Amino acid sequence: MTSPTSAIVLIGPMGAGKTSVGKRVARALEVPFFDTDAAIAREHGPIERIFADSGEEQFRALEREAVIEGLATGGVVSLGGGAVLHPATQADLADARVVLLTVAPRVVAHRVRGSNRPLLQGDDAASRWSAIYEQRRPLYERLADVSFDTSSGPLQHVVDRVVDWAR
Ligand code: S3P
Repeated sequence: MTSPTSAIVLIGPMGAGKTSVGKRVARALEVPFFDTDAAIAREHGPIERIFADSGEEQFRALEREAVIEGLATGGVVSLGGGAVLHPATQADLADARVVLLTVAPRVVAHRVRGSNRPLLQGDDAASRWSAIYEQRRPLYERLADVSFDTSSGPLQHVVDRVVDWAR
């Protein structure tokens, strides 16, 4: 059962604004903020290096540990875009308040341009982003309790809507 005190978890594709929105929502609700990518990088070094040296599977294992740590805070938790692929995380999210952030492909293109995300390297980053998103979209939609689009307008509007929903 989801209770009003359970963690608020932000899911969605790369570049949707999960970290930026999550930070501000946590500040507004005066609860801890936890970002899985940041936690992994803090403990194990840059994500692109983990992918390069140890592979995606190892990254997913570290990510799962970070998800467990994040959910235990009971605050706002921003997940890396692929964290929901882990079956145990899918199960855990049944007890959380899950917010899906979406973004239109035309908008995300400039947000992720030049980023060091390992899955978006190279000239065809935009089409790769779309392919990954389309593949994961049914999963994101199934796990989400509510969904907001971050494509247009100030990010603060999305923050306000998430905070209103969460209160
Ligand atoms: C990934 C998303 C990234 C990061 C890693 C893999 C993914 O996080 O975890 O590069 O598989 O979608 P963001 O969603 O915060 O960019």
